[in-house]
Amino acid sequence: MADNRPIGVFDSGIGGLTVLREIISRLPGESTVYFGDDGRSPYGNKSHDTIIKYSLQDMMFLQEQDVKMIVIACNTASTHAYETLKAHSDVPVVEVVYPGAVAACNATKNGKIGIIATPATVSSGLYETAVRQAGKDMENLEIIQQACPLFVSLAEEGWWDDEIATMTAERYLRPVREFGVDTLVLACTHYPLLAKTIGRVMGPDVTLINSGISVASVVEKVLSENDLMSDGTDVTRAFYTSDDAGRFESVASPFLGRGLPKGTRKVTVDHYDVSGFTK
Ligand code: DGL
Repeated sequence: MADNRPIGVFDSGIGGLTVLREIISRLPGESTVYFGDDGRSPYGNKSHDTIIKYSLQDMMFLQEQDVKMIVIACNTASTHAYETLKAHSDVPVVEVVYPGAVAACNATKNGKIGIIATPATVSSGLYETAVRQAGKDMENLEIIQQACPLFVSLAEEGWWDDEIATMTAERYLRPVREFGVDTLVLACTHYPLLAKTIGRVMGPDVTLINSGISVASVVEKVLSENDLMSDGTDVTRAFYTSDDAGRFESVASPFLGRGLPKGTRKVTVDHYDVSGFTK
């Protein structure tokens, strides 16, 4: 039997739209509900406990929208809160770290992989662990990590490809370039919005990994394994933000295209009580 309930996708802000876009492109017959927690963004400089609390509240909001799956379209939330969310969800939960790690190991030729991410993702060490796990049969694996917190603000501001973005990228990426990576994981879902700038600074010989593409294929696999595919009728696209809806739409629409996002509604999620949840 087909299941036409929507897929729920959340992020700290507009970054998760880079994952949503790939899901829509791979599975156009699936309805989606997106929540961007712009009002509490960024997550990348918050503590472990705060990231878990926010992620649980984001999930509880999506659960109220009767979703059939939760996609954590945020690496920071994936590294800090995936296990907790999985433990408290009745529907499958998909995270974004492991698919990105696998894509990086498949892409590298010289074994030198760069991971750029938020401070919270870098300090968790879990992305590096995921790459080491995905590349466990590679003898020559060398990894460099770099936190690039300002990239999130640039992405949320819509400054994706200008001189400020270029100067910021030059400064953050110099050590990564000098390390000699041939593959760079955009391990924050906001960063693909700056891919042009990042690609120019890294040069043509470096492959950028946008995990959204790999995540979309995991979403398809999990839907199919759990008998959750829709029949492709009555497809809906809903968008929610915890900050200004007009601003969310104007920053996001050049990226998402197809007249999306539209009809975005502002909601608050702070009232969801997570005190009963264990970590
Ligand atoms: N987009 C998020 C990520 O993938 C986090 C950005 C932030 O809020 O710091 O890590």
